[in-house]
Amino acid sequence: MITEQDFVFNKVESSFPKKGKFTWKTPSNIALVKYWGKREPQLPENPSISFTLDACFTLTTLEFTKKSSKDIKFEIYFEGKKKDEFKPKIEKFFSRIRQYVPFIAEYDFVIRSRNSFPHSSGIASSASGMAALALCIMSMEKALNPSITDEFFYKKASFLARLGSGSASRSIDGELVVWGKHRDITGSSDLYGVQFPEKIHKNFKNFHDIILLVDEGEKQVSSTIGHDLMHNHPFAEKRFDQAKDNISKLSSVLQNGDLKSFITIVESEALTLHAMMMSSNPYFILMKPNTLHIINKIWEYRAQTNSNVCFTLDAGANVHLLFPEKEKSSVNKFVIRQLIQFCQNNHYICDRVGSGAKQF
Ligand code: DP6
Repeated sequence: MITEQDFVFNKVESSFPKKGKFTWKTPSNIALVKYWGKREPQLPENPSISFTLDACFTLTTLEFTKKSSKDIKFEIYFEGKKKDEFKPKIEKFFSRIRQYVPFIAEYDFVIRSRNSFPHSSGIASSASGMAALALCIMSMEKALNPSITDEFFYKKASFLARLGSGSASRSIDGELVVWGKHRDITGSSDLYGVQFPEKIHKNFKNFHDIILLVDEGEKQVSSTIGHDLMHNHPFAEKRFDQAKDNISKLSSVLQNGDLKSFITIVESEALTLHAMMMSSNPYFILMKPNTLHIINKIWEYRAQTNSNVCFTLDAGANVHLLFPEKEKSSVNKFVIRQLIQFCQNNHYICDRVGSGAKQF
């Protein structure tokens, strides 16, 4: 079994470069079984599984320059503008990963990052953002120790990304990634994400995700606060058991192609996530009236057409519309005719399942 110790950097084969830079493009992901609840150090209370996305991504360049002092110093530019408000999260990330990548203390950094989706869209960028930084740091490790295998490279990248943001562990690989130990998922671990290890039925190949932007504002509740709410939650244990059970069920469904069961599991997961927030102390309602209008329209449309379109939600008001490749044109029409009226400024993003991070 792989443990945290296996990820401690212990070998320099090449000399430290004076300066350099690496660039990675990393996808966002959408969870089908949700991660909601964690313990130190950023370990999940239940396993989760997500589709890796394609069109929603972060592109990050990490520039590094050798220095003599021992403090980690960095600047962050987001979409060309200096963003000091992003510093605390990255500082925390650096301090958490330092024991595994001690060479980062030898450098000053400039981080330049941008997203393919609008920052204000309500789409979380912490997953793709932390995954990109983790991969840039792994590229530095690879430069210092070229003998590491690709398998170790990506596993450790996911491990580091997880320490920045839990869901970031699922933004390295494609197309379906599981994070969190589960007896039915070979190789799964609480420490990093793994590609779903079984053969995926053709019904789930090239799946689409249209993100309906119901509320483009900043999130009302940060995910860290949200996860904390599970600590004294009256339904926490049952919820964690349910998620484990849903992973087992979804694993079979992904292999046997049963689209109707997929819908039931995925929609129930989305509503349960929100039910957890509505029943915690303090409580939150993150859905907006238009979120519910869209959900009702989807149910109506399914009843009328026998379509396999379904929805999932993040910790916010936006709706992700998931559907198979063969329904592409009919669902697009449905969105334009019946759903965009509920989107802020008629905004929505067409995305699909993607294959994971790429170096630039
Ligand atoms: C609702 O990964 O953003 O999107 O680990 O605190 O950074 P931190 O939380 P984060 O939580 C994501 C929660 C979710 C569900 C999911 O993606 O599984």
